[in-house]
Amino acid sequence: MNYKNIKVEREEPVLKVTLNRPDKLNAMSRELTDEMLDLFHALRSDMDIRYVAITGAGKAFSSGADITGRGANVPADRFELYTNARLAQFHGHDFMRALESLEQITIAAVNGYSLGAGLCIPIACDFRIASEKAIFGIPETGIGIFYTWGATPRLTSLIGPAWAKDMIMTGDHYDGQKALAVGLVHRVVPHEKLMDAVQELIGKLELKGRLAIRMAKKIVNAAAAPNIGDLYICEPEMVERLYLSDDPFEGGRAFAERRKPKFTGR
Ligand code: COA
Repeated sequence: MNYKNIKVEREEPVLKVTLNRPDKLNAMSRELTDEMLDLFHALRSDMDIRYVAITGAGKAFSSGADITGRGANVPADRFELYTNARLAQFHGHDFMRALESLEQITIAAVNGYSLGAGLCIPIACDFRIASEKAIFGIPETGIGIFYTWGATPRLTSLIGPAWAKDMIMTGDHYDGQKALAVGLVHRVVPHEKLMDAVQELIGKLELKGRLAIRMAKKIVNAAAAPNIGDLYICEPEMVERLYLSDDPFEGGRAFAERRKPKFTGR
C-alpha cells in the first residue's frame, strides 16, 4: 500500500493511517480522499486487520477540505463549476459511507486541528480520542459554505441539535475538554499518550468476542441510521444552489488573501 498523501503502517490486527500533508495541515485534497477511499475498499476484504487508527502528521489532524484556489478564476459561464460542486458532493458522501461502514473498528486519534471535512473523519469513526492539543471546529460558514458530505446529521446524532447548531453556525473552536463535555470525544489524554490510549482501547476490545464486537458496531450503526437520514440525494443539489451565490467564492478569496470575507448572500 503505497500512497502519497497518507502513511499506512500495518501491525496486525491494527492498521495505523496517518494523514500526511503536514505543511498543509493535512488538508484533504481530492488526491488524499481518493487514496483513503482506495484504502477503505481494500480493507473490506482484509480480515487480518480488525482495527484502523487514524491520526495526522505534524501539528494538525486535518484542517479540512483543501481550499487552495477556491474563489479564484470564477468562470463567466459557471455551469461546469456548479456541476462539479454538485458531483464532488457524491464523492464526500461516498467517503463518509465507506469509512463508517468499514467492518474494522475505527478510532480517530485527534492530535491537533480537526476542522470541517477534517472533522468528518472522527465523526465517521467508531471512537474518538483527543490529545490535549486537539482543536475541533467547523469553519464552513466562515468561508460562505455549509457543512456537507452528510456530516451534519451524523454530528447531530452524536452531540444533539443544540451543540451541532452551535458548532456549525458559530464556527467556534472547541478544545478537548469542551468536545468531551458535549459528547464529541470519548477521552482527552496528554498529547504524548495519544497512541497509548488507542492501544489501551484496542487491548480492551481484544478481550471481547470478535463477532460480538463486529455485530455490535453494525447494530449501533443501524440504530443510528434513521437519525442520520439520507442527504445523498438532496445535499448535492443544495450545494449547487449555494454556488449560484458569490459567497463561497468570496470565502475562498478571503482565505487566500488572509482577510475577513464580505458576504452578501447573493
Ligand atoms: N486548505 C488548503 N491549505 C490549507 C488549509 C486548507 N484547508 N488549511 C491550512 N492550509 C495551509 C495554509 O494555507 C498554509 O500554507 P502556506 O504555508 O503555504 O501558506 C499552511 O497550511 C499552514 O496554515 P496556516 O494558516 O499558516 O496555519 P495557522 O496555524 O496560522 O492556522 C488554521 C491554522 C487551521 C486555523 C488555518 O490554517 C485555517 O483556518 N485553515 C483553513 C480551515 C478551513 O477553512 N478549512 C476548510 C473547512 S472544509
